[in-house]
Amino acid sequence: MTVSLRAQPTVAGSKILAYGAARGDLVVPNDDLVGPIDSSDEWIRQRTGIVTRHRASAEVGVKDLALTAGREAVERSGIAIDELDAIIVSTISFPYPTPSLATLLAGELGRPDVIAYDISAACAGFCYGIGQADSLIRSGSSRNVLVIGAEKLSDFVSPTDRTISFLLGDGAGAAVVGASEVPMIGPTVWGSDGDNWNTIRMTGSLTDFRDGNAEWPTLEQDGRTVFRWAVWHTAQKVREMLELSGLTVEDVDVFVPHQANMRIVDELAKQLGLGDDVVIGRDIAETGNTSAASVPLATHRLLEEGKAKSGDVLVQFGFGAGLAYAGQVVVLP
Ligand SMILES: CC(C)(COP(=O)(O)OP(=O)(O)OC[C@H]1O[C@@H](n2cnc3c(N)ncnc32)[C@H](O)[C@@H]1OP(=O)(O)O)[C@@H](O)C(=O)NCCC(=O)NCCS
Repeated sequence: MTVSLRAQPTVAGSKILAYGAARGDLVVPNDDLVGPIDSSDEWIRQRTGIVTRHRASAEVGVKDLALTAGREAVERSGIAIDELDAIIVSTISFPYPTPSLATLLAGELGRPDVIAYDISAACAGFCYGIGQADSLIRSGSSRNVLVIGAEKLSDFVSPTDRTISFLLGDGAGAAVVGASEVPMIGPTVWGSDGDNWNTIRMTGSLTDFRDGNAEWPTLEQDGRTVFRWAVWHTAQKVREMLELSGLTVEDVDVFVPHQANMRIVDELAKQLGLGDDVVIGRDIAETGNTSAASVPLATHRLLEEGKAKSGDVLVQFGFGAGLAYAGQVVVLP
């Protein structure tokens, strides 16, 4: 006999209900970092567009940043905390491999019973999370999902590293995603390029560190390879996202690519042929590269400053270690 199981009733679509944000409490100018890496304020500004980055004090952990951003998103979403079904956290800097940061947050938010898990997709993590939230909701598995990208990258930088240390900041960005009769999150275009697994990497493993074969592991990268990869692949993926959503470049109001380097942001806008009226996320100048937090932080800033508004069509795209990438078209709340 063939058994036919009953499936969850599905939902037409999902939408972002609200955002939340937290930046590290310290504003660190380039001049504070240039000494040990034989660099200069001018070089960093010209090559990356970064003027300052936010970093968190010793007593502020990645959990605190995530909690602040997550609380704001839930409060602004209008849903009661009891209506939350899932928490997805993207982080590469929670200092415990297990249990997850998401389950810790679930308890702190007063909902220790929800679906909760972390994902490791580095700078693509928030967009991976939005893709997963959209799937959980459309499949009927969850009604409301809190997605958080949270990083305290300063715990994993070496002040003497010349390849990445000066780019990185600390922060968290969050969004509550809920069910919608009309889809307001388009199909996610996502994937990875495992042949570039080692392009952005740790200097050693935790077991190397335990065995005395490595210093405390910190981040390092082949910056030029990442730069070329991003510039070569992103525009094509964004066009794919737009096509799958039934839109064209002319429909884009807001563009928020991962805040990795202002030159990459500018180059992508040029390649896509975005009009002068398209609002572009440039939070990197002040906040630095906060990996999984960068896309929601930049979006939150544009909404707060009134440069982006409710109903705008946002194109968001993240890429980074792995090399993992993800993006989707979103109608802003
Ligand atoms: C890291 C990055 C800023 C380096 O910029 P770049 O223009 O690619 O620099 P290059 O590596 O080509 O080096 C150019 C010159 O600057 C020098 N240089 C490299 N790093 C430097 C630094 N931190 N300070 C000062 N000079 C530096 C190099 O020695 C080289 O000098 P030379 O021309 O005399 O040989 C850039 O590649 C980048 O942002 N990549 C994107 C990667 C990224 O953001 N990853 C994060 C995760 S997504």
